[in-house]
Formats: sequence, structure tokens, C-alpha cells
Amino acid sequence: MSGRIRRGAVLGAVLGAAALPASWAIRAAGPVASSPAGVANPQLAWQNWTLNCQGCHRLDGTGSDTTAPSLAGTVAKFLWVPGGREYLVRVPGVATSPLSDADLAEVMNWMLWRFDKEHLPSDFRPFTAGEIGPLRSRPLRLEASGMRSELLSKAAASGPP
Ligand code: HEC
Repeated sequence: MSGRIRRGAVLGAVLGAAALPASWAIRAAGPVASSPAGVANPQLAWQNWTLNCQGCHRLDGTGSDTTAPSLAGTVAKFLWVPGGREYLVRVPGVATSPLSDADLAEVMNWMLWRFDKEHLPSDFRPFTAGEIGPLRSRPLRLEASGMRSELLSKAAASGPP
């Protein structure tokens, strides 16, 4: 009997968690204590993500059918194949963002780590302002989506480096 009550209490807590206010979700997806490589200020990177990127990609990077593809669990796979690193910076949402090259480099490093650290290649070199500048000066346009599918199928075929 008491076992049943306890199970009920646990279930109630789980259901309650599903209905938590939005501020909890923000905290859950927010910056974490340790700093990913190439991110001097995770708090700023997170803030820049929320102001410039999450409108399409969502706070947790999962995107939606009508805005942007999911970065969560996928985005670092582009680094497995030639051309993928450049693609990540040349997509229009990144290349034409109002962020400075330095801030954008930190958002990219933060994003890769936050949403897909399990697929980061072991020899991953963090993005720097010096690399971002020239790449973003050549934004992709309509070709982005074809390039995206091609890179992802190559990554699926090759696996991690
Ligand atoms: C207006 C909506 C929009 C905004 C704002 C936006 N993105 Fe995107 N993003 C997209 C779409 C759509 C794609 C898929 C490629 C394409 O067709 O442009 C994409 C692709 C990407 C990719 C390549 C990975 C993939 O799966 O294709 C990265 C990385 C990325 N975005 C990061 C960012 C970052 C970082 C910001 C903020 C600085 C940002 N995006 C802002 C819509 C957006």
C-alpha cells in the first residue's frame, strides 16, 4: 500500500516536471559550469545564442520543421568531412549574423560543445575570429540545403575520423 503511494508521489513529481515553467527550460539548456575549448566566456556565448540564433534553432538546438534543422546530436558531424567546417560558418544564419567575428567564433565553439559534444572529432580545433572572418564573407545562398544533405551523407558513410 505504502509502496503504491510512493510510486504515485514519484509519478506526480515526474508529471510536475513536464509542466515546469519556461524559465526552468532556459536554465536547463543554459551555460554550464565548465568552459568548452575556445570559449572564454560561456555566459556571453549563451546570451548571444539566445539573442541571435535560438529564434530559429530553439534554446536546446532542436529546431523545427518550419525554421531550422536540428543541431542537437548532429552539428559536430559536419566536422568529420572535408568542406564541413567551412559549411558551418557559411550558412546564412551564421555568416550574416550581426555578431562580431570573435563573438561568433565563441558561439560556434559553445554550440558545437553544448549540442553535440559526443560527435566532436578528437582533434577538433576551436574556431577563431581569424578563421570566421574570411569564411563568413562568402555566405551560402540557395546551395546551402544541397550542400547540407551531401555533407551529412558523406559523414554517415565515413563515420568519425
Ligand atoms: C532565420 C533563421 C535562422 C537563424 C536566425 C539562424 N539560423 Fe542557423 N540555420 C538555419 C537554417 C534554415 C539552416 C539550414 C541551412 C540553410 O538552409 O541555411 C541553418 C543551419 C545552421 C548550421 C549548419 C548545420 C546544419 O545542420 O545545417 C549552423 C552551425 C547554424 N545554423 C548555426 C546558427 C547560429 C550559431 C546562429 C546564430 C548566430 C544561427 N544559426 C541563426 C536557420 C537560422
